[in-house]
Amino acid sequence: MIEHAFGGDWTEVKLARLAKYLAAYRTIFTGNERARHFTTWYVDAFAGTGSRSSVEVPTSGLGLPEEIYQDADTKGYRDGSARIALGLQSPFDKYLFIEKLRGRAGELKAVIERDFPSLLPRCDIRNDDANTVLCTWCNERNWKKERAVVFLDPYGMQVEWGTIQALAATKAIDLWYLFPLGVARLLKRDGNIDEAWQNRLDQLFGTAEWRSRFYQTRTTRDLFGDREELERNATVENIQGFIQERLASSFAKVANGLVLRNSKSSPLYSLCFAAANERGATTALKIAQSILDD
Ligand SMILES: C[S@@+](CC[C@H](N)C(=O)[O-])C[C@H]1O[C@@H](n2cnc3c(N)ncnc32)[C@H](O)[C@@H]1O
Repeated sequence: MIEHAFGGDWTEVKLARLAKYLAAYRTIFTGNERARHFTTWYVDAFAGTGSRSSVEVPTSGLGLPEEIYQDADTKGYRDGSARIALGLQSPFDKYLFIEKLRGRAGELKAVIERDFPSLLPRCDIRNDDANTVLCTWCNERNWKKERAVVFLDPYGMQVEWGTIQALAATKAIDLWYLFPLGVARLLKRDGNIDEAWQNRLDQLFGTAEWRSRFYQTRTTRDLFGDREELERNATVENIQGFIQERLASSFAKVANGLVLRNSKSSPLYSLCFAAANERGATTALKIAQSILDD
């Protein structure tokens, strides 16, 4: 069995929120007369193996922020997002699982064959990059008849803004996005950020405006004349506010995210929610916000 190790108590918080939303979503889409005719998808774009353990530490070499996934709170095997979604009392009509590592994608398939054999025909498991698969998948669907919940649970900065836009453009997707607050570490005090990281931040936020959002030049005057000083504001609130504003530029409604912290209380991620369907967004947001605030 291939083991996949990550998380801590904050992972439990994240997955419990997701589980609640998925159950509520299926209740609406099975109970509501007008919603019943939609084919509902659950999409797990960073799916893993379906389970997690505390044995191995994933490393990316990106310096961001995979190591925080290993937290002292992690104990034994627990259900990951894929198992949670498959184990719902009322399962989704379709499942798309995307996992870049071949071994993990294979393990997930074996888990479904063994533990959820009746759902196997509903499952599409792709061993590929989440951004590539999602953009194609969004274009292939008939959004007049289909609806989806998409869960983006990357370790770090793997989600590209073009993917977020493709999801929003469907006007049919509810998005849960674990946004990495570890970007604060890249936003150096002196503003001297490696060009490759600047490009990654451009891709993550889908704009170059993060520069003026997190850095401002202040002019001070002293005996020797005017002096320009760079001020940095990379607080959790500012980063979270910015990603929420960015999501609101494409989605119908966006919730106030939940900051997830490790056992030392360091902020790791913001659990974000955004609803793309204008008609359903008010209800979706009400449910998601109450789950986030719980
Ligand atoms: C945090 S784990 C996901 C955990 C999973 N949601 C769960 O609850 O069990 C992130 C996963 O995404 C995979 N991954 C990393 N980059 C990826 C990419 N670009 N596309 C698809 N999968 C990726 C990793 O191999 C890893 O298994």
